[in-house]
Amino acid sequence: MSVRVTLKLATSLDGRIALASGESKWITGEEAREEGHRMRARHDAILVGIGTALQDDPELTVRLKGHDDQPQPLRVVLDTRLRLPPDSKLAATTGKGPVLVFCQPGADAEKRAQLEAAGVTVAEAILGDDGLDPGAVLSALAGAGVETLMIEGGGRVAGSFLYAEKVDAIAWFRAPILIGDDGAPGVGALHLEALRHAPKFTRTGLRAIGPDVLETYERA
Ligand SMILES: NC(=O)c1ccc[n+]([C@@H]2O[C@H](COP(=O)([O-])OP(=O)(O)OC[C@H]3O[C@@H](n4cnc5c(N)ncnc54)[C@H](OP(=O)(O)O)[C@@H]3O)[C@@H](O)[C@H]2O)c1
Repeated sequence: MSVRVTLKLATSLDGRIALASGESKWITGEEAREEGHRMRARHDAILVGIGTALQDDPELTVRLKGHDDQPQPLRVVLDTRLRLPPDSKLAATTGKGPVLVFCQPGADAEKRAQLEAAGVTVAEAILGDDGLDPGAVLSALAGAGVETLMIEGGGRVAGSFLYAEKVDAIAWFRAPILIGDDGAPGVGALHLEALRHAPKFTRTGLRAIGPDVLETYERA
């Protein structure tokens, strides 16, 4: 079984996910953020890069009325060198639901032991062109029973999974603000040499959600 991967982005009109300072809370409005929680609840696993984990210290749980007794999705962090602090919200909330950190083979044993002591599962994945290999990560997740994965950023992770052709769908929340090119891009490098190689998607939905717009796409 392969994992169906949805990339979720919350950007400004010009496709930025954060200011140069890293500030990103909040680009989209309350309604869009609540829809983001409903989307989390529909996925087996949620994934972020360590850049996002360090900058935002997210919990990545589903926080919706009436969801308290429901299982939480598996929370996954790509963290080559195990930089995730044991007192981060992710590591500190393993009682609410599982957290899985992927690192490179042979990563620091002491950091690994600290995370494991906090209840985090640590697994190794081989390195690819830009961080941990997306195919290896997805194979491991499939082996753990994950069928649906939502990637919640940041830009580098979005770029590496798109470059590896591992993104099946996109949910793009766009807020009516502009950040400018000193902000952080929603999609990192794609290493394109010709426009014909650009990843292509077909739009499947377009709706207003509060002051924002949600566009959904499937890989063409
Ligand atoms: N508005 C939104 O929707 C939204 C959502 C999420 C994040 N953000 C913002 O995005 C910013 C963080 O984005 P970012 O691009 O700097 O960081 P990121 O994509 O969250 O994390 C990138 C880091 O993850 C590690 N990594 C391991 N395997 C990887 C792989 N296959 N592909 C990419 N990275 C991999 C690398 O660090 P190592 O080499 O140390 O492993 C890499 O530097 C923050 O400012 C955050 O606030 C915004």
